[in-house]
Amino acid sequence: MSSEPASTDTVQGGRVQPTPQKPSASTGTGSGKITDQQLRHIQKNALKHSGAEPSAIKDSLPQIQGRPDGSDRARLVANAECEKRARQSRAADAWHLSGLPTRHIRFRRGQVDDAWSQKLTSLHKLLGSGFLVALLGDRGTGKTQMACELVRSQVWREEQNSCRYVWMIEIFMAIKATFSKQAVRAETEELQRFISPQLLIIDEAHDRGDTAWEDRVLSYLIDKRYGDLRDTLIVSNQKPDEFKKSIGPSIYSRLIETGGIIECIWPSFRQAEGG
Ligand SMILES: Nc1ncnc2c1ncn2[C@@H]1O[C@H](COP(=O)(O)OP(=O)(O)O)[C@@H](O)[C@H]1O
Ligand SMILES: [Mg+2]
Repeated sequence: MSSEPASTDTVQGGRVQPTPQKPSASTGTGSGKITDQQLRHIQKNALKHSGAEPSAIKDSLPQIQGRPDGSDRARLVANAECEKRARQSRAADAWHLSGLPTRHIRFRRGQVDDAWSQKLTSLHKLLGSGFLVALLGDRGTGKTQMACELVRSQVWREEQNSCRYVWMIEIFMAIKATFSKQAVRAETEELQRFISPQLLIIDEAHDRGDTAWEDRVLSYLIDKRYGDLRDTLIVSNQKPDEFKKSIGPSIYSRLIETGGIIECIWPSFRQAEGG
């Protein structure tokens, strides 16, 4: 799926969440606004977290070395700039690799404090806790959009910002594809691609076969992610009782422990739009 970033920031859950853009090549220092104390702090942390090559820092120095306030300050500012660009780059990579649907990436919403926004805020608060949450509700209530906004927040997190969005059925299709002689990946390798993202969105979870094999794959996957403290959001059109039955007691007990069920109980946005 393509994942073209939208161009403007959005306000969600009371916080501005910029869409990650590919970092630009230009270097604006903004140096006049940074105090000496801030610069010392930046220098201490910049290299540690940036992952930037020392040569990248060296390359950005000539643009500011001629300033009268000395090479130390110039180096600190260059370090800060490198850190900023490395961070933007990490967020853009995570965003572009997540696999979100283009429709939901492009949708932008202004600041509205309604039930949808409040549920999104409660999900934001759980990010990074190793949660397992079921987001349930009728078609068109904005569940996939909410998942998309959660990914938008996650990619800006400083550490472990990897995200993956898949439909439930795609997990089973990917695993089954490894059974073929022509398979490019082994089963364990394919499973690992669902286990390793720090945030996994499993959408359209109502659409599955409910076979014993699918149950086993899902239990294994969820249990691994639970053990590794990774966040998992399962999205489904089912009612809570129906969902509980189809997901099974093992996953359900982990869900109750680490997150629970979030219900979207409001009219479909599609109806509101006449769709
Ligand atoms: N909070 C919202 N406010 C207004 N429109 C929304 C909102 N969330 C989603 N939409 C729009 O409503 C439609 C359905 O959203 P979607 O997330 O696909 O619903 P679901 O996944 O619950 O079926 C989409 O066109 C989407 O752009
Ligand atoms: Mg949906």
